[in-house]
Amino acid sequence: MRLLMCILIISSAFAEDKIKSELKNVRVLPFTKKAEIMKYMNKTVTKELGVKCNFCHNIKNFASDENAHKLVAREMMSMVMNINKNTMKPLKLHEVSCWVCHRGQKHPDHN
Ligand code: HEC
Ligand code: HEC
Repeated sequence: MRLLMCILIISSAFAEDKIKSELKNVRVLPFTKKAEIMKYMNKTVTKELGVKCNFCHNIKNFASDENAHKLVAREMMSMVMNINKNTMKPLKLHEVSCWVCHRGQKHPDHN
């Protein structure tokens, strides 16, 4: 009986985890649903940098961190979220995005 309870508790914990996120390796972005992250990747990231999915991903496994561009992009996402949270929102200013620097290019212009 006790063993059965244990199994029930463990399996319900796993089920709950699954409901919490459909995504495997999302550490910075606030999304838990595949549809939400797909919209962000399709409409925002690729356009603002002028690249395709495979610039950052192994398209057979989107959760993999094997691509170095993906790791840079994750840090950039974290940077943008921090700027918005700590600077733009408190000042009630328009939020920044990748576009503000990248303007549709992988490498922003330096002068
Ligand atoms: C500039 C780099 C970049 C490009 C281009 C990009 N992604 Fe991503 N993608 C990321 C990063 C970084 C994460 C992880 C974010 C995090 O950890 O919060 C991610 C996560 C994901 C995930 C979540 C996988 C999981 O379960 O962990 C999916 C799905 C995904 N991307 C799909 C796409 C698709 C489809 C495209 C093309 C339309 C695309 N991405 C283009 C950087 C990129
Ligand atoms: C404050 C300006 C700024 C913002 C905002 C910004 N970036 Fe960047 N990003 C840069 C600079 C500068 C570089 C380095 C370019 C170089 O070395 O030539 C860079 C480089 C990158 C690279 C590396 C390209 C490579 O060849 O490895 C990726 C990927 C990237 N950014 C993704 C993003 C994403 C995704 C966002 C939005 C979430 C973002 N960046 C927002 C300034 C910015």
